Amino acid sequence: MTNALEVMRTRTVLRNYAPRPVEDALVEDILEAMVAAPTASNKQAWSFVVVREPRTVRLVRAFAPGVIGTPAFLVVACVDRSRTDRLPGQISQKIYQTSKLCVAMAVENLLLAAHTLGLGGCPVSSFRERQLRDLLALPDHIEPLLVVPVGYPAEPPTPSDRRDKNEVISRERWERDASAGTSA
Ligand SMILES: Cc1cc2nc3c(=O)[nH]c(=O)nc-3n(C[C@H](O)[C@H](O)[C@H](O)COP(=O)(O)O)c2cc1C
Repeated sequence: MTNALEVMRTRTVLRNYAPRPVEDALVEDILEAMVAAPTASNKQAWSFVVVREPRTVRLVRAFAPGVIGTPAFLVVACVDRSRTDRLPGQISQKIYQTSKLCVAMAVENLLLAAHTLGLGGCPVSSFRERQLRDLLALPDHIEPLLVVPVGYPAEPPTPSDRRDKNEVISRERWERDASAGTSA
């Protein structure tokens, strides 16, 4: 799929993976798209661990109940606090908070790139941090935020329901019941 709007409209989480490895070149394309995401003040206070070894994928799954199915690979998306903590007081805290948003944006890029290439994935926040840290040898300043399993679909995923856009989008000023303010 090459049309960006179509890619964004049709992405949905994948939790059922085909037992098929993902080619090295596709993994690299996805990772390049991931780190092309916007990042506050261009701090790039992030760090990612790509897990492709099947045994390690199984172990990550064991510590991440939110990972459903057996993906070809996983990306553990982290904030790198060594790049935020060295800044002065309040700025450091602010950059730390915004860096979490940057990691989320990188993960969305990852998911959209995967979908573009005929793969799929799922952002997962349900994992046991201590065990994941030990398994992947994450130092204290690397804070895992999301585990992202990726692979080829075993079958096409079912799209999720969305709230009506007119219910969540107001025009010009916020309205409690946005849909009441729209004209047909
Ligand atoms: C921050 C975040 C954390 C999530 N954590 C999990 C998780 O732990 N387990 C899971 O199965 N899905 C998880 N999801 C996926 C959501 O359940 C999914 O995005 C949502 O149901 C909407 O479906 P869609 O992405 O197909 O539109 C998470 C999504 C986000 C954005």
